[in-house]
Amino acid sequence: MTTMTGTHPITGILTEPLVAPSILSADFAALGSDCEATVAAGADLLHLDVMDGHFVPNVTMGPALCASLHRRLPAVFLDVHLMVTRPTMYVQPFADAGAGHITFHIEADEDPAEVIRCIREAGCTVGIAVNPPTPWESIEPWLAEVDLALVMSVNPGFSGQSFIGDVLEKTRAISSRLRDDQRLQMDGGVNLKTVADCRDAGCDLLVAASAIFGSDDFASTISALRGP
Ligand code: DX5
Ligand code: ZN
Repeated sequence: MTTMTGTHPITGILTEPLVAPSILSADFAALGSDCEATVAAGADLLHLDVMDGHFVPNVTMGPALCASLHRRLPAVFLDVHLMVTRPTMYVQPFADAGAGHITFHIEADEDPAEVIRCIREAGCTVGIAVNPPTPWESIEPWLAEVDLALVMSVNPGFSGQSFIGDVLEKTRAISSRLRDDQRLQMDGGVNLKTVADCRDAGCDLLVAASAIFGSDDFASTISALRGP
């Protein structure tokens, strides 16, 4: 599956950053139309935040919701961010539900090599995420093997939190170690004030929930997040 420009959103070589609305700030009672509106406004893919109430203190969405979105928007690439303690449990159900990409956390309670293998076997591209307090060196052994590194710029669990600027230093360290066919994703507190720092630190896949769904003009917000 590709973006509107014909480039694979995770493994393609980009000419400009991609913007991924996190549907966590959408109106869940109007999810289909909210998501359609962001895609019509220029969103490149949709980011689904999956929380199990154990890895993080919140519960959000499961494979059934992903499958419904995939049926409604079959051409849209779905990026699943697993904030769960046992990621391998959820890989095949989300792959069956139409996920194109799955990211797991290095802080989860499983062997990273096994999770990476499981996600690839399910036919999805692979991401590895690191929470704000976790040093970037914890994901270094896996960087060459994944398609995406995700730097969390808030402690995961909720949308609408403030950007933690301290993560920019490790973002730059990770950026210098990635290939052009790998993505560097920033997630949490990304908005019109913080996004330039994220892009300057090397991020080419920008996730935003409240900044997009809280704006009254999705197109201009997505365009501004993408940058000049
Ligand atoms: C946080 C989630 C984020 C969140 C971002 O745990 O992983 O994707 O929805 O929300 P904002 O952009 O509002 O910080
Ligand atoms: Zn997320």
